[in-house]
Amino acid sequence: MIRLGVNIDHVATLRNARGEKHPDPISAALHVVKCGADSVTIHLREDRRHINDKDAKKICNLKNVLVNLELSMNESIVSNALRIKPNYICIVPENRKEITTEGGLNLKKNFNKLKKIVSKFKKAKIRTSLFINPSLKDIKISKSLGVDCVEIHTGNLSNKVKSNQKHNKELQRIKNSSKLANSLGIEVHAGHGLDYKTTKLLLRIKEIHEYNIGHFIIGESVFHGLSKVIKNFKKLLK
Ligand code: PXP
Repeated sequence: MIRLGVNIDHVATLRNARGEKHPDPISAALHVVKCGADSVTIHLREDRRHINDKDAKKICNLKNVLVNLELSMNESIVSNALRIKPNYICIVPENRKEITTEGGLNLKKNFNKLKKIVSKFKKAKIRTSLFINPSLKDIKISKSLGVDCVEIHTGNLSNKVKSNQKHNKELQRIKNSSKLANSLGIEVHAGHGLDYKTTKLLLRIKEIHEYNIGHFIIGESVFHGLSKVIKNFKKLLK
């Protein structure tokens, strides 16, 4: 079964725009699961621009909601995450000035730091993942880091498809990386910039087991509602 994780950060962004309580990301977490999402993704950013500590704690405490927490290598964020115990974590690079996560982790440069962080989460029995670029070298490094999963950054593919540029090479890169990861026993996920069209393209890669999608699902829900959009994705992934 291919799983769908729904990123609800944008619900918190909308709430924060008014500095009030609505729309509530905790209700959103419950709602997306009710609509068919297999898990909920939240990113506790260092600048807390959307999800905050209270949201993260409450969402991680929800029964029957599998939570995938995206986090940077920042020490206090890591300790916080170990305290609130999400079901899954995905380590992502973070740059204060970026609008969203712009690329995969630099695994070579951060090898020792990542190794320590991954082993802490593994000890806590939390599923570990790294957000990486589609590169064979990075898959091999991920294997030595001992992670359970990798999430391949699909932003480049999505940008190319959306601007009608040739995308076959990028798709092939994702395919080769997914195949290698799978053969090494690492579960493969995909995320960033995905919509119906790019998800359909990626479905040709049988090694991808989970899709984490945020911006498009929340944006499209303005027109069609979360329930309809999540159902559409679930139908695609069947
Ligand atoms: N996966 C990861 C690791 C991300 O950082 C993001 C963006 O927060 C997503 C998936 C979702 O990307 P999008 O909002 O473009 O669907």
